[in-house]
Amino acid sequence: MQYNFDEVIDRSNTGSIKWHYTDDTIPLWVADMDFKAAQPILDSLQRVVEHGILGYTKQTDGLYQAIINWHSSRYGLSLTAEQIVFSPGVVPSISLMLNLFTEVGDAVLINDPIYAPFVTKTKLNGCKVISSALVEKQGRYEFDLADMEVKIKKNRVKVFLLCNPHNPGGRVWTADELQAVLELCKKYQVAVVSDEIHQDLTLRSHTFTPFLSLAKGYEHMTVGLTSMTKTFNVAGIKGSMIFVKDKALATQIKQQQQLNDEYELNLFAYTVMQSAYEQGGEWLEQALVYIEKNIDFTLQYLATHLPDIKVMRPEASYLVWLDCSAYADDDKALYDALRDAKVELNSGIQYGEEGHLKLRINVACPQSILAEGLSRVKQALA
Ligand SMILES: Cc1ncc(COP(=O)(O)O)c(C=O)c1O
Repeated sequence: MQYNFDEVIDRSNTGSIKWHYTDDTIPLWVADMDFKAAQPILDSLQRVVEHGILGYTKQTDGLYQAIINWHSSRYGLSLTAEQIVFSPGVVPSISLMLNLFTEVGDAVLINDPIYAPFVTKTKLNGCKVISSALVEKQGRYEFDLADMEVKIKKNRVKVFLLCNPHNPGGRVWTADELQAVLELCKKYQVAVVSDEIHQDLTLRSHTFTPFLSLAKGYEHMTVGLTSMTKTFNVAGIKGSMIFVKDKALATQIKQQQQLNDEYELNLFAYTVMQSAYEQGGEWLEQALVYIEKNIDFTLQYLATHLPDIKVMRPEASYLVWLDCSAYADDDKALYDALRDAKVELNSGIQYGEEGHLKLRINVACPQSILAEGLSRVKQALA
């Protein structure tokens, strides 16, 4: 079927985190799309509601098979049911893996800029944050492997939290780049926790590589974390997976989950997960075409009206990283100027020092909303 991504759906007064305002501010921030979910997902929920019994629910063979098929057909990642562990979210999984791989006081390596919970969860787990800045080359971020190695050695880093694809920079790390990271981590016995929640939002002409698919022989130190929530815009449903190929590590993770009874998801999460991976492909394909058009639209608009913003074109996701240093000299003032103009973007500084005077804009909304939001950005900065 043909989906209509131009449709404007009123989300005010729905408890939406994104649309939290009491006025007509346009939200171009948190990673949540203003698109209705795929029809097969909505139909699957409807069937559950019509059945009317919402009792205790376990994972079915059909659910495992849907996850296995999606990942093997798209990314060549072979999984068995025993290698899939369910978790309430990717962020809770990050915490769980830090808990397993570290002791209080241990050092954890992250890149800068990075999705903020990488830092907050590391600190909450009693670990030291060791940060390695990504370097910008020809408009895209790259790892600074030399810097990472120095820091791993000096701080005896225990875990590298990898963001693959990268948020907020939108990089889809190539197999060669990931291989180099793997070699480095192997050399110093650093465990790798790869957050791959943006995997399915990889855009035209880029190829996503699951870190786990490279980690043969190092599987006891590697997990992949992913979810259907970002891909299919069902974040309110919650639910995610930990992929773990090492049997002993899988047992450890499951034991850890027993502590808080965290190994079960709810009926709606299982329902959505299965229908999304079985029948959501058509929606996703069309959503990515629309997102790519909105990225082009945004780049053109900014080139015309705010030509001194340096834009990093994403290779995955609908999040665009904007260097606004030509238009501002204070992070708070930059954010406040936008809020005064009734548009909200994420302030770059929340992603680390590298985010100074940067903004992250979410373009996953009907183009009419995006156009109005961009005109307010122009009004605030020009
Ligand atoms: C890199 C990354 N990881 C994790 C999450 C959130 O995951 P969850 O809602 O499953 O905890 C996000 C949400 O934006 C994200 O960008």
